[in-house]
Amino acid sequence: MSAMGNNRLLLVDDETDFRAPLKKRLEKRGFVVFEAGSGDECQMLLGNEPVDVVVSDVKMPGKNGIEVLEWIKENHGKTEVILLTGHASAQDGVEGIKKGAFDYLTKPVEFEHLVQKIGQAIDKKKREAEKKQEAEFKARMEQQMVATERLASLGTLSTGIAHEIDNPLAIIKECAEYMKLLLNKQELATMPRKPDFENAIGKIETAIERAKRITHQLLGFVRKSETFFSETDLKELVAETVEFAAKDAENKRIKIFQDTGHANAVIWSDPYAIRQVIFNLLTNAIAAIGSDGTIKISIKDTESRVMLCVEDTGEGIPKENMEKIFEPFFTTKPPGVGTGLGLYVTSGIVNRLGGRIDISSRVGQGSNFQVMLPRSIEACADMGDNKNICFDILNEIKGDPTK
Ligand SMILES: Nc1ncnc2c1ncn2[C@@H]1O[C@H](COP(=O)(O)OP(=O)(O)OP(=O)(O)O)[C@@H](O)[C@H]1O
Ligand SMILES: [Mg+2]
Repeated sequence: MSAMGNNRLLLVDDETDFRAPLKKRLEKRGFVVFEAGSGDECQMLLGNEPVDVVVSDVKMPGKNGIEVLEWIKENHGKTEVILLTGHASAQDGVEGIKKGAFDYLTKPVEFEHLVQKIGQAIDKKKREAEKKQEAEFKARMEQQMVATERLASLGTLSTGIAHEIDNPLAIIKECAEYMKLLLNKQELATMPRKPDFENAIGKIETAIERAKRITHQLLGFVRKSETFFSETDLKELVAETVEFAAKDAENKRIKIFQDTGHANAVIWSDPYAIRQVIFNLLTNAIAAIGSDGTIKISIKDTESRVMLCVEDTGEGIPKENMEKIFEPFFTTKPPGVGTGLGLYVTSGIVNRLGGRIDISSRVGQGSNFQVMLPRSIEACADMGDNKNICFDILNEIKGDPTK
């Protein structure tokens, strides 16, 4: 029986001679016990001191036990009620059960029987709380799964489209460059409205750059989107990416610190994809700071995992944006500046590699993006959330013998 330790009871009875000794005996069994001499007192007390179980007499002056029960079920639905009825009033008990009482006992009450009933009522309450938690968890997971599936199919579609757009985009770029070359030739030196043409070509080039940023983000910087596992040195990738961003950061008086010295940061993963992750997080951190600030990139390791943190002193992320930042095309940057794909692609990569991203952020103080990666894909099988993905990847790598 799970009664005892810290479970809270309220005894409601107009007879002090009955209440007071019962309270003492129940306290000796480890319950926290409150007393009320009437229905009204019970209502007042429950407002300030919620309890697990109310043990209430039925026959009381003023509000009787059934009325108290009705009020409790209406206002404190999770509290269980045990009624105490007179010897000849079993009818009251039956009515009480119909109205939601856990059970009823007839007076005079046998103490051990009462303790047992209280224990059962507490067990029921706990089971119900667990059931509710389970149902909430299930609902949350279902919601997440719908969102993940939506993003996954969107991902497949957008990667396909990006691939198709990449080729015509390359042709447009080449043609624009060719037109620029022609405009610079001597034979067109006196061409009418030449500056208008130059202007238009400039606009085409800017638009191509923007479109290319989108297709590059979706297709990966270096290769297409399939996963390719090899020995991956995170320190090396961090150093490379920081060097790549160094000039931009220096111009904005942003200092980048690398705290990667002691960690064992060689993992079995996809270096190209991880480079894109670090690049996206670093450029976001720079953008969030704007100018004058610091970014710290650190690596911490455990036997089976490595955690890469990118911490900035930037503007931070407001709570209402937290859920949206991983959605494709969500950006707070001015039109034409951000694609809103950086974090979407980043989370897609990290998921594919069997990892996880956690964020902590404070508006006006900065953000910390923590990327947890498994040391090897075998090691990620115990990383909770991504179990299934890991097993899928494992099967992919090992090959399915049935095929
Ligand atoms: N380190 C950060 N600090 C504050 N806000 C951030 C940070 N990283 C991301 N965000 C917020 O999340 C949004 C989405 O980021 P994401 O990288 O997906 O796109 P973007 O940075 O806006 O566009 P792009 O990556 O193409 O430059 C950003 O516009 C910004 O509001
Ligand atoms: Mg970005």
